[in-house]
Amino acid sequence: MAKVLIATEKPFAAAAVQGIKEIIEKAGFEIALLEKYTEKAQLLAAVADVDAIIIRSDKIDAEVMDAAKQLKIVVRAGAGYDNVDLEAATARKIVVMNTPGQNANAVAELVLGLLVFTVRNFYNGKSGSELMGKKLGILAFGNVGRNVARIAKGFGMEVAAYDAYCPAEVIEAAGVKAAKNQEELFKTCDIVSLHIPATAETKQSINKALVGQMKKGAILINTARKEVINEPELIELMAEREDIKYITDIMPDADAEFKKFEGRYFSTPKKMGAQTAEANINAGLAAANQIVGFIKDGITKFQVNK
Ligand code: 3PG
Repeated sequence: MAKVLIATEKPFAAAAVQGIKEIIEKAGFEIALLEKYTEKAQLLAAVADVDAIIIRSDKIDAEVMDAAKQLKIVVRAGAGYDNVDLEAATARKIVVMNTPGQNANAVAELVLGLLVFTVRNFYNGKSGSELMGKKLGILAFGNVGRNVARIAKGFGMEVAAYDAYCPAEVIEAAGVKAAKNQEELFKTCDIVSLHIPATAETKQSINKALVGQMKKGAILINTARKEVINEPELIELMAEREDIKYITDIMPDADAEFKKFEGRYFSTPKKMGAQTAEANINAGLAAANQIVGFIKDGITKFQVNK
């Protein structure tokens, strides 16, 4: 009997765990749960006899794969799979999948929520400003970026986007202005929201030269990955330009330094973007169904290490 482990340092909502359990057991497989683990050793022990693992931002590296002698598939219940060593997985013939789009609305709603919180001065009682009429730049027009555009339009914002891999016509067809390049997006928008994955190309790419082109009073919001930010350069810029604000859902390594910019910096204590019952159910159940489809029928849709 195939054994499926849910390994989530940051647990799913209980309803999602229940739904995953039902799908796995209905397929005749066994389910195991490892939540809120604090040591890698706990993960290494839990994977020893499993065929499949469902994870979130949990790190699956070569050591974990070597400890999981029967492992055939890892499904990241979510979008970004930079936490899985794809090369190591491919070398061991382990299939890696994600569940694209399943938690996108949750992240997008958080973006607008954080923006209202920011323009209202973190609810400190002082008069703030409104989002209506402001220009929002979306960097990367994937599932999250598209949902951010949809909601921002409801706020009456002017929306622009740039995506190195998405043609301008596709962006314009969604009723969003396509920026010519990344620089133009930063130069022309009041707010820039990051939705790029962490790749060799994007890591540290949000730097002083780029953010420094933003207008007076600009807001940079990051619900993507902390690795895309060049933290020392952003700190340098914020020290020079007292008008720039940085809002993030992924606590920077230099959180203590950013905290010195009082009223201009906010980080959630733990990544909250996909932390809703709906997103957990969407992504968790999709992950469970993908595992069943792969083990029973060899379906490899959503495999990311082909
Ligand atoms: C994702 O890539 O899907 C999001 O960043 C959510 O990550 P999480 O599952 O760790 O909350």
